[in-house]
Amino acid sequence: MTIDIASVRADTPACDSLIHFNNAGASLSPRCVTDAVFDHLRLEQQIGGYEAANAASTALENFYHAFARMLHCEASEIAFAENATHAWNNLFGAVPLAQGDRILTGQSEYASNYLSFLHLAKRRGVIIEVIPNTPEGVLDVDKLEAAVRDDVKLIAITHVPSQSGVVHPAAEVGKIARRHGILYLLDACQSAGQIELDVRTLGCDMLTGTGRKYLRGPRGTGFLYIRRQALERLEPAWVDLHSAQWIAENEYRLRADARRFENWECFVAGKIGLGVAVNYALKIGLAQIEARVAALARTLRQSLETLPEVRVHEHGQRLSGIVTFSVQGVPAAQLQAHLQRLSINSSVTRADNSQLDLAHRGLGDLNRVSVHYYNTESEIARFCEAVAGL
Ligand SMILES: Cc1ncc(COP(=O)(O)O)c(C=O)c1O
Repeated sequence: MTIDIASVRADTPACDSLIHFNNAGASLSPRCVTDAVFDHLRLEQQIGGYEAANAASTALENFYHAFARMLHCEASEIAFAENATHAWNNLFGAVPLAQGDRILTGQSEYASNYLSFLHLAKRRGVIIEVIPNTPEGVLDVDKLEAAVRDDVKLIAITHVPSQSGVVHPAAEVGKIARRHGILYLLDACQSAGQIELDVRTLGCDMLTGTGRKYLRGPRGTGFLYIRRQALERLEPAWVDLHSAQWIAENEYRLRADARRFENWECFVAGKIGLGVAVNYALKIGLAQIEARVAALARTLRQSLETLPEVRVHEHGQRLSGIVTFSVQGVPAAQLQAHLQRLSINSSVTRADNSQLDLAHRGLGDLNRVSVHYYNTESEIARFCEAVAGL
């Protein structure tokens, strides 16, 4: 089954007026997603926020079932979050870590996650051990397993980094985590929506992501998954009247499902929209999306490599829809501005937000383009002409 490109582009109005190669930043939502958000906001305007949420209870429940189908888990293992950072911090904050406990992570760990490690190291004396990448730029799983000791209490890695196009061997890491009984937290922020994810084969205890990137959901939305067995062991660092029930003056009971990691108040319209976005992706098929994104990114890399003075920065067996490159003598921000003037959206990966990765590879700021399945080969050709034109 192939993707009907004309139809998905027709569902994406901005495809007519620009080339959107910033899907790793925020992709373009299909019409059904923005319609669902607007419809709910209109209902709130007409009947009131609480009343609108009650009226939308089926659509809100759909959020959990859509993610359960996408990740191959139970709906009770899914929670809504306002973004991936919050989802990740909520889970990280629930892991019981004491002075001297060790966290294993990778060189591509997302900057905010790494800052949280540093913060906990400062406050509680946990030890962070960064497992190096192989020369191909992927996490070295042999070195990871060699680093496992009794004091390792958490393995936390990023599946698809935001600053490079590699895909880390998340399922192999899962096997190591399972073998040694270590909690495993996977940041799937850039992989959700572009790569088929199955938590049973990934072997992770916890997984987090955002709505606005490859899932094509609204901004201000995110999600988390927590395996039932981990859920029974992990308590959120803080609670409210949604995550817990006040059962007597000095007693409360935590919710039994993953929603113990949610807040009561949330972006209701966005939550409905994200559920719609996940169903839209499922209808197209994650395997089809993954194949199309990888093929477009391959064409893009090959085309860029034919241009003089252009260097593409990722090579390897399995690459994502994210392509990083630099043009000799042209600062990344200048090229991004040039492209923007031609209605081509791209982004810049900043070296100071990627100190364990770009700095170790001797790289400064890079241009980042990220394709989605609704992009086309002709957009890639026009993009390369624009780069060459500079
Ligand atoms: C790998 C990765 N993890 C986490 C995040 C944070 O996502 P959010 O902005 O939704 O908190 C990002 C955002 O760029 C990301 O690329």
